[in-house]
Amino acid sequence: MVTAIILICAYLLGSIPSGLWIGKIFFKTDIREHGSGNLGGTNSFRVLGKKAGLIVTALDILKGTAAVLLPLIPYFADTSIHPLILGGIAVFGHMFPIFAGFRGGKAVATSGGVLLGYTWPFFIVLIVGFFIALKLSKMVSFSSMAVAVVGLVYSIVYWIVTGDYALFIVVAILAAFIFYRHRANIKRIREGTEPKVKWI
Ligand code: G3P
Repeated sequence: MVTAIILICAYLLGSIPSGLWIGKIFFKTDIREHGSGNLGGTNSFRVLGKKAGLIVTALDILKGTAAVLLPLIPYFADTSIHPLILGGIAVFGHMFPIFAGFRGGKAVATSGGVLLGYTWPFFIVLIVGFFIALKLSKMVSFSSMAVAVVGLVYSIVYWIVTGDYALFIVVAILAAFIFYRHRANIKRIREGTEPKVKWI
């Protein structure tokens, strides 16, 4: 029973469509009808502005972190579910949210949050990698996918050093999700029509 409840909680956490709700509540805007049509942080920046974009990104990160940390709640203390499985379920919830007609985001920020909750130095490496890629490419989508590759390399090194291969397996799955959800971006990058940011 506890196992079922913790899995459901992880999915519901991931399902919180922060970009959609913030857009609807504070801006009377459905961000899925504007910009790239995605309900993640990047499109929130684009459609709702800097402040809302930052808040949506932070919330999308934090819901991944919260899912990984669920076993810290005393009621769940005896669970045998690996925290990374909870994180993976939260990312699944982010991509297919019950609260937004199962049309969710591209897995990037919530995956980052999962890794922040599991091993924060990994998150720092990813953030640094992301901004280096963004500085060079000016494309958030390209940088998101570059970071997925950085994550894969890091998790292989982590496996070799610590013997913990669970991280590699989960990062490989998350990276596959990220590439799959960026299909339209990949097409635009190849055509040279992917939007670029000017602020970096
Ligand atoms: O995290 C999503 C980002 O990589 C791309 O978002 O809105 O430009 O498709 P968007």
